[in-house]
Amino acid sequence: MNEVIERAVEILSPLCKGGCQIGLILGSGLGGYAEKIENKRFVSYSDLPGFPQSRVEGHKGRFVVGELFGKTVVCMQGRVHYYEGYPQSQLAIAVRVMKRLGVEKLLLTNAAGGVNLGFAPGDLMLISDHINFSGSNPLFGPNDDDFGPRFPDQSNVYDRELRAKVREAAKAAGVSLQEGVYMMFSGPTFETPAEIVFARAAGASAVGMSTVPEAIAAAHCGIRTIGISLITNMAAGILDQPLSHEEVQEAAAAASVRFAKLVDKIIETVF
Ligand code: HPA
Repeated sequence: MNEVIERAVEILSPLCKGGCQIGLILGSGLGGYAEKIENKRFVSYSDLPGFPQSRVEGHKGRFVVGELFGKTVVCMQGRVHYYEGYPQSQLAIAVRVMKRLGVEKLLLTNAAGGVNLGFAPGDLMLISDHINFSGSNPLFGPNDDDFGPRFPDQSNVYDRELRAKVREAAKAAGVSLQEGVYMMFSGPTFETPAEIVFARAAGASAVGMSTVPEAIAAAHCGIRTIGISLITNMAAGILDQPLSHEEVQEAAAAASVRFAKLVDKIIETVF
């Protein structure tokens, strides 16, 4: 096993006691959800030798281990992005650490731009599938057979059965939930209006700069995954206004109560 993974597992596993069954990765502006975790234990990414570090504003950069609804969760408050310059294989590390800690179900969250013209900022979207348009893949390089096969199937990356339960959970929580395909661009630029026309023609409902590498790594090692996008803005060219990271963070903060309600219900009743 990769030495970085091994060291991180050594440091984190004593905090997990009976193992962590649930993984949670919180995206841009959504890190506040981690405050709800009970009996929190923290480990900064900077305290894990060789672990990739995020420097994006709005990302805390630490693992939070604790309990939610009587279940042990390992949460990443902030994630590393491909556009920060790391090869995507480095983005697989966190997911593989989770696998070694015992994680069976993973909730990936992100801020995304709305491509579907029926969406509005503030909408929550259940990711049904993705288009990896990032130009890379977290499984580039020699395959680590300890985690999964060389040519993994991708026909159920976002677990169909869990998705049906998430729709029910959203209904029970009274939170409306869109569903659609997430298309990953590398960033760090926002997309051009022409790229958004292309994304829509390709079948995407939302675009973003994250999540796909972790989802691929999770599917590879057999972790069942759910993805939730918070639509923070309509994607480029839809409205006559420029996009900004500040707008993304403000919209995420404004939706935080609804987002938390949905995540609570997913962890309580689906995971
Ligand atoms: N594009 C890419 N990533 C994003 C966007 C967007 O419009 N909004 C939030 N993250």
